[in-house]
Amino acid sequence: MMKVSLIVAMDRDRGIGRDNDLMWHLPADMQFFKDTTKGQVVVMGRKNFDSIPEKFRPLPGRLNVILTRNKNFHAYNCLIFHSLDACFNHFKDEENRVLFIIGGGELYRLALESSYLTEMFITTVDKAYVADTFFPPFNEEKWARSKIGFHEADEKHEASFTFWHYTKK
Ligand SMILES: NC(=O)c1ccc[n+]([C@@H]2O[C@H](COP(=O)([O-])OP(=O)(O)OC[C@H]3O[C@@H](n4cnc5c(N)ncnc54)[C@H](OP(=O)(O)O)[C@@H]3O)[C@@H](O)[C@H]2O)c1
Repeated sequence: MMKVSLIVAMDRDRGIGRDNDLMWHLPADMQFFKDTTKGQVVVMGRKNFDSIPEKFRPLPGRLNVILTRNKNFHAYNCLIFHSLDACFNHFKDEENRVLFIIGGGELYRLALESSYLTEMFITTVDKAYVADTFFPPFNEEKWARSKIGFHEADEKHEASFTFWHYTKK
């Protein structure tokens, strides 16, 4: 049975990005993202894929899946789908790997509307940036939340941040 999860980092205003880029450099959160998604399937919007520097994509050690409406879109070593339903249908019998929705904003919105989404990893960054892309609000009452980590601001991290794990009730 397919398992669908989501991973995101957002600021105090739910901001996740600006000018098709991240707004911060937080190596410990990047490491958390790498560790959590390693060996799994990562599902991303075409804009998110474009935002990853060419030398870092496809993200290594994970099957990279891209959603686009463009039927002519191709990317080396990536799987392309034209709807989230088609993607979920392809992986419906996946037993070993978790499907991680890794953004951006449009993909998170689609995932939050899907009944397949049963788990979320949310990093909350303790700072307000000026974002143009946001993580959508969702019904917190339908989710159980636990704090799984905290990182202080330090010379490599301009803000403190907390790691949260959500499971669908
Ligand atoms: N903080 C975080 O954790 C985090 C994580 C990831 C990304 N981000 C940030 O998020 C921003 C990008 O997010 P975004 O919302 O602009 O774009 P996005 O969600 O990455 O990608 C949007 C694209 O996905 C495709 N798409 C969307 N819905 C679709 C559907 N129903 N069927 C088929 N294809 C579909 C379309 O591609 P086509 O236009 O090709 O048709 C659309 O333009 C960047 O700033 C990035 O840095 C932040």
